[in-house]
Amino acid sequence: MDEIEKLLKELTEAGGVSGHETEVRKLVQKHFKPLGKVSHDRLGSVICKKQGEAAEPRVMLAGHMDEIGFIVSHITKEGFIRFANIGGWWDQVLLAQRVAIKTSKGDVMGTIGAKPPHLLSDEERKKLVDSKDMYIDIGCASAEEVEKAGVRVADPIVPVSQFTVLAGGRTYLGKAFDDRGGCAVVISSLRRMLDVAHPNTLFGVATVQEEVGLRGARTSVSLVDPDVAIILEGTAVNDMPGAANEGHVFRLGGGPVVTLFRQDMIPNRGLRDLIVDTAREHRIRLQIRADRIRGGTDGAAIHLHSAGVPTVALSLPVRYVHSHGSILHRGDFDAAVELLTAVVRQLDRKTVKALTAY
Ligand code: CO
Repeated sequence: MDEIEKLLKELTEAGGVSGHETEVRKLVQKHFKPLGKVSHDRLGSVICKKQGEAAEPRVMLAGHMDEIGFIVSHITKEGFIRFANIGGWWDQVLLAQRVAIKTSKGDVMGTIGAKPPHLLSDEERKKLVDSKDMYIDIGCASAEEVEKAGVRVADPIVPVSQFTVLAGGRTYLGKAFDDRGGCAVVISSLRRMLDVAHPNTLFGVATVQEEVGLRGARTSVSLVDPDVAIILEGTAVNDMPGAANEGHVFRLGGGPVVTLFRQDMIPNRGLRDLIVDTAREHRIRLQIRADRIRGGTDGAAIHLHSAGVPTVALSLPVRYVHSHGSILHRGDFDAAVELLTAVVRQLDRKTVKALTAY
């Protein structure tokens, strides 16, 4: 594994359900430390300030470090664990998946279970199983045994999925590429900027609680108070069988995706053009998206900070996003770092001022 693969493995395998980001935060802090001055907001988002040739403009590069997961809601007297979803799960991808319950005594492993097919009526077999009807089985026979294992109501639960380099060596299988992939792009880009002059001050930010309402974005942006922001995200692609819509295919390996329209944010036009033009000039693959897609990004909160912040979201394509078995393409990752680095080098005072010349 090379440096990027190691970074992605470390970040994606770490636990960090929204509101319980401690494990992944420690890793982010470790990677930020040699890159600049590290601080945090009071919800736990981490900020790395890297001063360039000028104090201004202040450039915010943000990815969220929280992941979707679950929380223990109830322990049955027979020793099964009922759970509540945190973030946007599609219940169909949950059954038979491994999870780790993060207890004060350490990780407790389990599997997500439900009534097996042998016991279902013909009618039941045709229906999707609701997560309310699932439970986590940790191999205990009573509530007392579960408690002895250290599990308590409200303990966070994370998906378990080993980072794996797939055949061909260019794609990776794992969980939480949304948005540890974005966090890794921020870290890698800051690393790259150690050897490169940039006419601004960079703030690499790993936000918390994005998946439950962009909360760490709101708190961290008030500390950073940026003049311009680029959000690094993971986004769903539709290059799998049966998903493409009228030929508008967003695909793995096609380059990062710049989203030109979302229900929650209309990106700054000048910044958008700068990104698109820079990609063209440097021959970096870029996919441009302006179709309907569910979900938002931290940009929705960040662009509304104070009197407004010119903001654009740049996303890594992820297949099967929000599941244990997501796939990321290395070419997209490298292209995102390349593009971000090239864009950041152009963000001087004059260029950023021009973004909001109305
Ligand atoms: Co995300």
